[in-house]
Amino acid sequence: MAAKAIKSIAVMTGGGDCPGLNAVIRAVTKTAMNKYDLEVWGVEDGFLGLIEDRMHILSYGEVSNILTVGGTILGASNTANPFAYQAKNGKAGQAKDISNNCVKVLKERNIDALICIGGDGTMKSAAAFVKRGLTVMGVPKTIDNDLYGTDITFGFNTAVTTATEAIDKVHTTASSHHRVMIVEVMGRYAGWIALHSGVASGSDVILIPEIPYQPEKICEFVLGRSKKGKRFSIIVVAEGAKQKGGKMVVAKKLTCSPDPIRLGGIANVLAEQICKRTGLDCRAIVLGHIQRGGTPSPFDRALATDLGHKAVELLMLGVRGHLVVMKDGKLSSITLSRVAGKIKTVPKNHHLIKAAQAVGTSFGI
Ligand code: F6P
Repeated sequence: MAAKAIKSIAVMTGGGDCPGLNAVIRAVTKTAMNKYDLEVWGVEDGFLGLIEDRMHILSYGEVSNILTVGGTILGASNTANPFAYQAKNGKAGQAKDISNNCVKVLKERNIDALICIGGDGTMKSAAAFVKRGLTVMGVPKTIDNDLYGTDITFGFNTAVTTATEAIDKVHTTASSHHRVMIVEVMGRYAGWIALHSGVASGSDVILIPEIPYQPEKICEFVLGRSKKGKRFSIIVVAEGAKQKGGKMVVAKKLTCSPDPIRLGGIANVLAEQICKRTGLDCRAIVLGHIQRGGTPSPFDRALATDLGHKAVELLMLGVRGHLVVMKDGKLSSITLSRVAGKIKTVPKNHHLIKAAQAVGTSFGI
């Protein structure tokens, strides 16, 4: 049976925000209006807007001049899950599946398809909405670059640039004060941001979740540098990094969130460990949400535009329930069911790990 013709679409930004979201909203809306004369709805605050029936028709003016603007004009939420919805004031453990209401809300407005811009949590819900009969297209977003099925997500390049610039600044003060500076970057359970910003900043030690570290090896390494006359060291640590045989450091648990764990605090743990063992002066810096803010890099603006445009084109070609992906430098798509529930971590034999080791970087092993 031929796919139903699409006349009206909705777009939403799920999960945490990230630089480039507005560039996708702009590309989706302008492509849909200019090429296909479609009506485009903007869903407010991610899945929360579907749950609470908050959405409006986007005007051309609303999506003009937003290419370079960080955040999302639609708002975001990384706690609302339509398949296990926990009302903010409701009792813990009383999550309900209210996904059918969301489908109804879209049907009542004659919206034919939903473009979900998001990371793994959003794509898991998007895949489940496909099973509820919704026409969905996913667009891969996250600074963490951990979405399965795509080589790259928009937002990652900007986050790496922000982190690298910050580490460059830490470098000069570390050198003046002969300190060990430990910079904690985001990335959840994947070390992509740490690996790329660590290599780009010439950091001395890079610690990622995929390679559990040994504290004594890090201490040996920084003391070895001191003996050679290098009186400072820079350590980049992913928030999800952990000691061999140890656990990730959890900052808090948000019971209302589909992924309740919020990582954070490993830099302080390491600073104490290294100071105790070596006697060196150590400082911890947590970059945090700075990595998610600000204007998207030129690379991310172009990638976001490419992905947003492709999402509309695929829908108009009759493709349903897919995620737009970048594979080997080419845009294509894969089914959301293949992506749901998986993440992409750094392979231990990644070429950038080998390059870093070859230029003398330690991974704490
Ligand atoms: O997934 C993006 C991300 O910034 C992660 O790197 C980080 O672990 C998490 O979101 C932080 O979430 P929140 O904004 O809820 O603190």
